[in-house]
Amino acid sequence: MNPPPNYSAMPPLARARAFCDAFGLRAPILMAPMAGASPAPLAIAVATAGGLGGCGALMMTPDAIRAWAREVRAKTNGAFQINLWIPDPAPARDPAHETRLREFLANWGPPVPPEIADIAPLNFASQCEAMLEAGPAIVSSIMGVYPPEIVTRMKEKGIRWLATVTTVAEAREAVAAGADVVVAQGMEAGGHRGSFEPDRPDTALIGLFALLPAVVDAVGDRVPVVAAGGIGDGRGVAAALILGASAVQIGTALLRTPEAAIAQPWADALAGAQPEDTAPTRAFSGRLGRAIATAYVKAANASEAPKPAPFPVQGALSWPMRDAALKAGDIDRMQAWAGQSARLASTEPAAELVRRLWSEAQELL
Ligand SMILES: Cc1cc2nc3c(=O)[nH]c(=O)nc-3n(C[C@H](O)[C@H](O)[C@H](O)COP(=O)(O)O)c2cc1C
Repeated sequence: MNPPPNYSAMPPLARARAFCDAFGLRAPILMAPMAGASPAPLAIAVATAGGLGGCGALMMTPDAIRAWAREVRAKTNGAFQINLWIPDPAPARDPAHETRLREFLANWGPPVPPEIADIAPLNFASQCEAMLEAGPAIVSSIMGVYPPEIVTRMKEKGIRWLATVTTVAEAREAVAAGADVVVAQGMEAGGHRGSFEPDRPDTALIGLFALLPAVVDAVGDRVPVVAAGGIGDGRGVAAALILGASAVQIGTALLRTPEAAIAQPWADALAGAQPEDTAPTRAFSGRLGRAIATAYVKAANASEAPKPAPFPVQGALSWPMRDAALKAGDIDRMQAWAGQSARLASTEPAAELVRRLWSEAQELL
C-alpha cells in the first residue's frame, strides 16, 4: 500500500481534491454527524451532491443504526459515515444536588421524577458492533478515541476513522491511536464540544482560526485535517482550506434545510441569531455544548443556578422540560443547538447548499 500523501505540503485546492479522491467525494464537504438531527434524507442529499453524509448514532439502538444505513444505501451510492461518542467514566451521583436541580428544572417544565436519572445509557459495545456491521466507508468519534480492539476491527474491514479533537494534544493522541483523519472542532461549533475530558472544555475554548493551523502543524504531515465550527458559506470553506484543512464539516448551516426537518421554532431562532446570541452551556446534557442563548440557557448558566449534573444525568433530568418545550413549540426551553455562524444557515435544499458552498469556495480560491 502507498504511504498516505503529505496533505499539509499541498496548495489548498490540490489538497481538497486529493482528499476527495481518497474518500470518494466530489466536494470536500462533510455533513456533521448530529445526534438527534441527522435524518437519512439529509445524509442522502449531501452524499448525492458529492459530500459525505453523516449519522450521529449516539442515541440510536443497534437496529436503528442498521436501518439508517440501509435507507441511505437504498437511495444513494454516495459516501457516508457513522459517528459514536466515546463514553465518559460513570458519572458521580449526588442525590442532594440532584434534588436542587429537579426543583430548579420544575420552574421551567413539569415536575422531574427522582428516578428519571437512573436510566442506563445505550450499550456502547452493541452500538460499535452495529456500526461495524453496517460497514460505512468511514466512522467517526467524538469525546475520545475508540478502544484498540475496535480500531483493529475497523482497519481489518478497511473502514477509515475520523477523530474529532479540540486541542493539539488531543490531535496527537488521536493520530497515535490510529485515526486516519482528524476533525479540528473550534469553539464556534454548534452542539457538543468534543473534549476528551468531560470537565475540561470550559478552560480550553479554542477558536478555529487558532486551532486549525496548530493541528495542521502538529499532525498534518501524517493525516488530513478537517475543519469544523462556524463554517456556513464559501468564505468559510475557502478560509479553512487556506489555513490547512483538506475538507470542512458543517453542522448548523445544514439545520434549516428541508431535509433536516428540525422543529420550526429552532430553525427560526437560527435565522435570527448573531454570534453573540449563542452560548456554551452544560444545562441540557451535562457536557458542554453551544446552543441558542434562550431564557433557560441564560438562567441555568447564571452563577446563582445549581451547577448542572454530569453527563448523562443532566440530560435525563432536563428531559421533561425539553420534551414539554418541543410539544409546546417553546424556543425558550427548547434544546436549540447552534454554532456561532447560525445566521448563515439557509433554507435551500441540502444538495444545493453543498454545491453552492463548494462552487463559491472554488471561485475564491
Ligand atoms: C444539533 C447538533 C448535534 C451534534 N451532534 C454531534 C454528534 O452526535 N457527534 C459529533 O461528532 N458531533 C456532533 N455535533 C458537532 C458537529 O459534528 C460539528 O462539530 C459542528 O456542527 C460544527 O460546527 P457548526 O455547527 O458551526 O457547523 C453536533 C452539532 C449540532 C449542531
